[in-house]
Amino acid sequence: MDRREFMKDSLALTGAAVLGLGCSKEATPNENHTEDKEKSPMEFTELIEVRRSVRRYAKSEIAKDEMEKIVADALNAPSWKNSETTRYYAAIGDEAKNRMWKEALPGFNAANSADAAALVAVTFVPGESGFMGSEPADDLGNMWGAYDCGLASSYFILAAKNHGWDTLIMGIRDTANVKAILGIPAGETLMSVIAVGKAAVKPIKVPRKPVADVLKTT
Ligand SMILES: Cc1cc2nc3c(=O)[nH]c(=O)nc-3n(C[C@H](O)[C@H](O)[C@H](O)COP(=O)(O)O)c2cc1C
Repeated sequence: MDRREFMKDSLALTGAAVLGLGCSKEATPNENHTEDKEKSPMEFTELIEVRRSVRRYAKSEIAKDEMEKIVADALNAPSWKNSETTRYYAAIGDEAKNRMWKEALPGFNAANSADAAALVAVTFVPGESGFMGSEPADDLGNMWGAYDCGLASSYFILAAKNHGWDTLIMGIRDTANVKAILGIPAGETLMSVIAVGKAAVKPIKVPRKPVADVLKTT
């Protein structure tokens, strides 16, 4: 999978600007976006509307206890038998973030997450979610761990937004380097790296399919 698959219709302005790609969907940049007043906490419907992938950040820092609040909220996510196998490795210091940008992310993801306050690797411990003892409960095996991790990541990005932080999930990354830089145990499965920061421009909502295309009721 390459960057264009992630970007195809969805290039929120910033990605296009940073990558130098043509993009007809550019929204009007609002460099004062970080000064916009957003209610916090938000109504759920508003939260899911305003949460968008952000690909240009204003420089900011995040304190450890702020990251802890976001992860505490994300821990409300459901998981197989409440197995809670998702783990978060948050680079919040300059040294770790700079190594991540230089060594662990492809150029376009590094550029799009530049100046983010944190780069959070999200992993899961395999062999627990979707398992009965040491045996997979069904044909999906560790896909249940990935399923739980995706649910947890959804909660994480929504919780982050609710606390005033924007995010970008990045699935394209160098697994070995992310693990080495952040000290992730070899046995854990890395899913994504999530940038957390303050949007420098207001992201646009990329189009979604009509409900009728994805829902069948009987
Ligand atoms: C599993 C996953 C991997 C993704 N990887 C990337 C990535 O590597 N780079 C990127 O710019 N966006 C990435 N995205 C963001 C998607 O492109 C984005 O969520 C989608 O276009 C919808 O836009 P929205 O988040 O603004 O609603 C990823 C999203 C998911 C869920």
